Amino acid sequence: MKEIKFLYQKAVPLEMHKARIIQKINLLPVDERVKANQKAGNNAHLLKTSQVFLDMLTDSGTNAMIDRQLGAMMEADDAYAGSASFDKLDAKVRELFGIDYFVPAHQGRACEHLLCRVLIKPGMTVAMNHHFTTTKGHVKLAKGELAELLKEEGWNARSSCPFKGDMDLEKLGQLIMEKGPEQIAFVRMEAGTNLIGGQPVSYENIRQVGKICRKHGIKYMLDASLLSDNLYFIKEREESCRRMSIRDIMKKICACFDIIYFSGRKLTSSRGGGIAFRNEDDYIKVRNLLPVYEGFLTYGGISVREIESMAVGLEETLDENFICQGPIFIEEMTNLLLQNQVPVVTPPGGLGVHLDATRFLPNIPQSQYPAAALHVALYLCSGIRGTERGSLSEDRDENGKEVYAKMDLLRLALPRRVFSLSHIHFAVDRITWLYKNRELVHGLRFEEEPETLRFFFGRLLPVDDWQKKLVDKFKEDFGDSL
Ligand SMILES: Cc1ncc(COP(=O)(O)O)c(C=O)c1O
Repeated sequence: MKEIKFLYQKAVPLEMHKARIIQKINLLPVDERVKANQKAGNNAHLLKTSQVFLDMLTDSGTNAMIDRQLGAMMEADDAYAGSASFDKLDAKVRELFGIDYFVPAHQGRACEHLLCRVLIKPGMTVAMNHHFTTTKGHVKLAKGELAELLKEEGWNARSSCPFKGDMDLEKLGQLIMEKGPEQIAFVRMEAGTNLIGGQPVSYENIRQVGKICRKHGIKYMLDASLLSDNLYFIKEREESCRRMSIRDIMKKICACFDIIYFSGRKLTSSRGGGIAFRNEDDYIKVRNLLPVYEGFLTYGGISVREIESMAVGLEETLDENFICQGPIFIEEMTNLLLQNQVPVVTPPGGLGVHLDATRFLPNIPQSQYPAAALHVALYLCSGIRGTERGSLSEDRDENGKEVYAKMDLLRLALPRRVFSLSHIHFAVDRITWLYKNRELVHGLRFEEEPETLRFFFGRLLPVDDWQKKLVDKFKEDFGDSL
């Protein structure tokens, strides 16, 4: 993609695919967006897709699939046990990860559930560069403690550091000294990261953490759900890997780990998930739980069609022309927003563009969820849905006190191959309008607040009548535009 030069036109991201099946989308008039938002309790998870114009909620299960994946699904061997489709996926995992034992599961969090059940004893600590919401949930359910060891620069929303997802090696050493290696259930590396702006982890950091784990006999685990973007960033940004193929980078990374799990929804653009083990005992423990929670070993709680499509999707993870599409679009949109002075997380990462709500809406205190308020405001003025990645995505502690996120972000995911450049330009236009009218946006408060993962089903209300004022200004500026 990057090798192609433009002579007379401004260079833009050039897709190396064409659309063969499309889905129609609608932009509702603003008054209908107001009603839809009220009905959804100011929570975009409760909107219907018919009410959303650009669905930037996630890339989970929403990346556009490849014709070869759909073709493979037609060849699926529909059997409860011993399906040939499983053998294809099993062989692909062995080939790419270089790891012998594999179990499929219905999605990434199912892998986390099984791993936490088997590896954590109450009171043990799980060390990680950064948590993902469901990981934290499963560690807590298994009565484990979480230690986040992200390097300090990772919290800096305005940075030029190429690998903000790296783990702090000193903090890891200290933790092992304090707790003792036998009290550490495992070290989990999320590469790339989700909640801190899709920031990648360097190969060098992956390797160094692996060395420390080996020295102390601690299990080392990769959450590879967002690995495809991370592979691209390692090739682009890490000097020692620049001349390597994506396949070789993948091999070198995987060789560092004892356990690798992934969300198939994200990594392979299909459904499902899976765990690969180097150690046979761990594999057998998890495999024996599989029929209780997921299904038989050869289908893992999903259809064998998805198993076929995961195998093809894994192979596509090695095609640089495919995996660069997300990061390059994200970079383009981030740069366009920066040109308009809109506060975004830098450097651009994977997964999506991240608006920095702390700087976008400095007048809204964290107790009124600035990123969630920004989210609602953006939906009202554009029909775009994203995901709050900030204080609302954290649950209260055991005493009912708010746990404020270190960064309040609004993530606008760009699922691979789904949006065109005109969509990006529309989004930039509306976000810029919102930034210029940011003083009209005020906070939110809970009306109904679930105890766990409250961002999924919680219902909120605006703290005053700011939404009416914002919509009045929208009508004044945009006239009869949708
Ligand atoms: C880094 C990371 N790990 C795990 C998961 C969970 O995967 P799933 O949504 O398939 O359950 C996700 C999903 O977004 C993720 O981003």
